[in-house]
Amino acid sequence: MIIEAHDVGVAIDGRPIIHGESVRCAPGEMTALIGPSGSGKTTLLHTLGLLLPPTTGQVTADGIVVSGGSPRARRAFWRDHAAFVLQDYGIIDDEPVSFNVAMRRTGHGTHQKLHAALEHVGLAGRDAEPASHLSGGEKQRLALARAVYRDAHVLFVDEPTASLDAANRDLVVGLFADFARRGATVIVSTHDDGMIAACDHQHRMNAPAVTPAAH
Ligand SMILES: Nc1ncnc2c1ncn2[C@@H]1O[C@H](COP(=O)(O)OP(=O)(O)OP(=O)(O)O)[C@@H](O)[C@H]1O
Ligand SMILES: [Mg+2]
Repeated sequence: MIIEAHDVGVAIDGRPIIHGESVRCAPGEMTALIGPSGSGKTTLLHTLGLLLPPTTGQVTADGIVVSGGSPRARRAFWRDHAAFVLQDYGIIDDEPVSFNVAMRRTGHGTHQKLHAALEHVGLAGRDAEPASHLSGGEKQRLALARAVYRDAHVLFVDEPTASLDAANRDLVVGLFADFARRGATVIVSTHDDGMIAACDHQHRMNAPAVTPAAH
């Protein structure tokens, strides 16, 4: 699925956060959203993932405008196509790992697929543990296991390597690259050089619309 921003701007409480952002994210590729802290990478990622409506411009999926649609259309996009690996992980701490992957109680029929997803991210055998027992990096990989389990077409990822040591960073970069190689559209907000190097494209955020006055 091709996800595109067409001249997208977002203002929050009247303050411009991003403006004039156009980017094309294609299947089989990893696109990095790059720029300094506060330049709006997360805001653009959320807008592309329909979590945040653009104030100006449009977001399209395979050429069809998907921003500004009904809540029902957005839910269909999330259900059928998208998976998110965001900074707050989106993990439900009170539920076991297995529930967090499948997002429902899992019966016998789903076990093989569930185990394959956990094995893929290096969490094999952890399915019965409460998610609250996992470390930050493990929770990030758990969010990725959910995307693997659902075979998501589009993956929205925010700073996946920020809290990881070098070994885990390499592992996680490899996992996202795999996802793209298998045909998914992977969109990553990052300032990690290793992650950026693994991406097929870089999109640098525009400079802020209003620059602070010089002293
Ligand atoms: N809900 C919000 N309300 C008000 N301001 C916001 C909101 N979300 C983001 N901002 C502001 O928008 C700007 C861009 O934020 P954003 O999180 O998109 O940046 P970023 O490039 O992802 O930064 P970082 O590299 O630190 O993650 C920041 O100045 C931030 O304070
Ligand atoms: Mg950010």
